[in-house]
Amino acid sequence: MSPGSCGSLWLFGGPLMTSPLKRRQVLGLGLASLGTALVGPFLSDRVQRSAARAQPAVAARLVSRGGVADLELVAQATRGTLPGGPTELLTYNGRSPGPLLEVKAGDRVRLRLRNGLNQPTNLHFHGLHIPPSGTADNVFLTVKPGDSFTYDFTLAKDHPAGLFYVHPHQHGLSADQVFGGLGGALVVRGDLDRIPEVAAANETVLVLKDYASASDQNEVSLGMGRMLGREGPLLTVNGELNPGLSIASGGLLRLRLLNASNARIYRLALEGHRLVRIATDGGAIGTPEPLEELLLAPGERADVLVQGNQAPGSYRLLNLPYQRSSHMGMAAAEADPRTLATLSYSGAVTPLPLPTTLLPVPALPEPERTRQFVLAHAMGMGGMKHAMGAMGGGGMAMGMGFQINGQSFEPDRINTRVRLDSTEDWLIVNDDVMDHPFHLHINPFQVISRAGRPESQRRWKDTVLVKAGEDVRIRVTFRDFPGLTVYHCHNLDHEDLGLMGVLQIDGKAG
Ligand code: C2O
Ligand code: CU
Ligand code: CU
Repeated sequence: MSPGSCGSLWLFGGPLMTSPLKRRQVLGLGLASLGTALVGPFLSDRVQRSAARAQPAVAARLVSRGGVADLELVAQATRGTLPGGPTELLTYNGRSPGPLLEVKAGDRVRLRLRNGLNQPTNLHFHGLHIPPSGTADNVFLTVKPGDSFTYDFTLAKDHPAGLFYVHPHQHGLSADQVFGGLGGALVVRGDLDRIPEVAAANETVLVLKDYASASDQNEVSLGMGRMLGREGPLLTVNGELNPGLSIASGGLLRLRLLNASNARIYRLALEGHRLVRIATDGGAIGTPEPLEELLLAPGERADVLVQGNQAPGSYRLLNLPYQRSSHMGMAAAEADPRTLATLSYSGAVTPLPLPTTLLPVPALPEPERTRQFVLAHAMGMGGMKHAMGAMGGGGMAMGMGFQINGQSFEPDRINTRVRLDSTEDWLIVNDDVMDHPFHLHINPFQVISRAGRPESQRRWKDTVLVKAGEDVRIRVTFRDFPGLTVYHCHNLDHEDLGLMGVLQIDGKAG
């Protein structure tokens, strides 16, 4: 029943050792009484210990042992208090974001999902290269209210190390469930973690998630509702408002960022510091990339190193204004930067170097063919672009079609068939006035060019932001696993409104 009792091979890691029941009891405490803490039931403990701890804790950390990960996630509605009053959050094991799962390449993963919600749900293992069928990354199966299902798969021994994302993928309800609080990070340990400079860094996973307070449930106030994709005004990191991060002067901090928000695109910058990117969605890149700022769309991940090479003090991790729609009057970007977390220096160490090279990202074979995917949204049967004057409330969205190549998602229609082991270029054309983060399941891809300009280096991606009016060329080899899967916009309101297609990967004949 409790996360600690469901599998003897799983242990709680990190500093949070109290019982799940105790954590649940503290969930009802209001924000005001907890200072910076916000959503998680772990917050009381956290605040009491915060003076003594260097890094913000993720809710809980469940680590596989001896090559096997046995885990249970219970999806349920949990009462909590946000600024604006009591509200109901959707949680895994009473937590939002859910517990941090940590496994190794080569591990067998058995994950029992218990559905304690009053609606169907399921799980998706975003970014993992595992089969799309059976008990693996099968988004076509549904777990009914009150039912359980055990996902069971084995990661390849050479599965890339990286930060992945576990979230519900029940078509029509994905956005409600993720925006309501479900989702969490999954770390796969392996190659990247063994690079000495990376291993020497102080590592923290930061799950970026926005929430709506009880007084803010009106859809139109949430970033113009479903058509644009709902955003909440409360910006949290691991369920906390403005948590503290610390670093020693001379030290290295490894921030592992996951955008687990429904629709919000983060434009991140750290005052006084560059973010040195070492990994993208699918794992390590070849050469570290120092960045002044980092754009992170829903579903995207990035690993960055921060050097403690500035004067001791406090530096804010900011979310800078970003406009993700050119629709007049819609989704006006927030005018001012928002503070997500605060980094401060404590102590000093002998300066640690940045790595100079990471891991090779080999070029994919030349593509056998190129396909085009045109993303758009339209109203009614006519396929005309959405008319601003017709905008109403949530009812409006129900009549909206979000389409790829003129078709909205139908679970029984295969939109695209490819051959196992073949390589293709996909040209993703955004013929819309909104940004759409395009995501492909099962096989990572490489971005070849953006608006015709070649990329500066090869990177493994599974989600790529395609800005309004832009086109992006990606290259993918369909390896190892035949079966049915999907590609879609990772603005999950758009996905639920039809911006998704079914991909069949045909096994080799004979
Ligand atoms: Cu993270 Cu199909 O999605
Ligand atoms: Cu995915
Ligand atoms: Cu979209």
